[in-house]
Amino acid sequence: MRVQVKGLHKSYWMDRVEVPVLNGVDLLIEPGELVSITGASGVGKSTFLHVLGTLDIPSRGTVLYDGEDIFGQSPAAISAFRNRNIGFVFQFHHLLPEFTALENVMMPARVARLPDRRARDDARAILDLVGLTHRVTHRPGELSGGEQQRVALARALVLRPRLLLADEPTGNLDEHTGGAIHDLLFRLNEEMHVTAIVVTHNTSLAARLPRRLSMHGGLVDTDSAGPLGREVPPPP
Ligand SMILES: Nc1ncnc2c1ncn2[C@@H]1O[C@H](COP(=O)(O)OP(=O)(O)O)[C@@H](O)[C@H]1O
Ligand SMILES: [Mg+2]
Repeated sequence: MRVQVKGLHKSYWMDRVEVPVLNGVDLLIEPGELVSITGASGVGKSTFLHVLGTLDIPSRGTVLYDGEDIFGQSPAAISAFRNRNIGFVFQFHHLLPEFTALENVMMPARVARLPDRRARDDARAILDLVGLTHRVTHRPGELSGGEQQRVALARALVLRPRLLLADEPTGNLDEHTGGAIHDLLFRLNEEMHVTAIVVTHNTSLAARLPRRLSMHGGLVDTDSAGPLGREVPPPP
């Protein structure tokens, strides 16, 4: 999915005092790109991902998804768009503790009211893809931190979203396990042609992603490469 951000502002209001966070972000992300975002704590990385994920609305400016102005639509249309097109992974996996890995990954399909058989088959397939074939009946408490994040990734991707947003997905993992999750993100981005934006404060992990952005003063700095003239995977 192509994501085009133009003059994006986002402020929070606290006791009628404006807290500006995003101050006019301009950014173009091409379909299939894998992008990292780094920046100091409090700079607005999560706020930016929330708006990109339509979990929050811009104060000013536009975000176009394949040219479409989703924020101009009704709240119901916005959530339908989000459910169909966007997958999220957070620092903490937010898996349901009483359900197995397979059941957790089946959850989005159940919410979307897909047939049970289809939900199960898709969940198994994506758990295979993240290397957890042998762990499908484990509950989150019976998995390692890295495995839990793999399940969270599988759950984010099971409905084949076109945009994957990850907010410090390795923030809770040691360097080695975090590296393995980044390798997996790399592979899934290639195999599934999903556009992926990964917030991380681990600069050595970020350095391995093909396009790196950083945030300062409520803006996304232009990366040296820029979105044009670089090879990106073709859309599916
Ligand atoms: N719901 C909110 N209400 C008021 N201020 C907020 C809210 N969420 C975040 N902020 C403020 O916005 C700034 C950016 O936060 P955040 O996007 O979480 O930064 P980051 O993810 O880069 O650490 C911070 O100063 C934070 O305190
Ligand atoms: Mg954050």
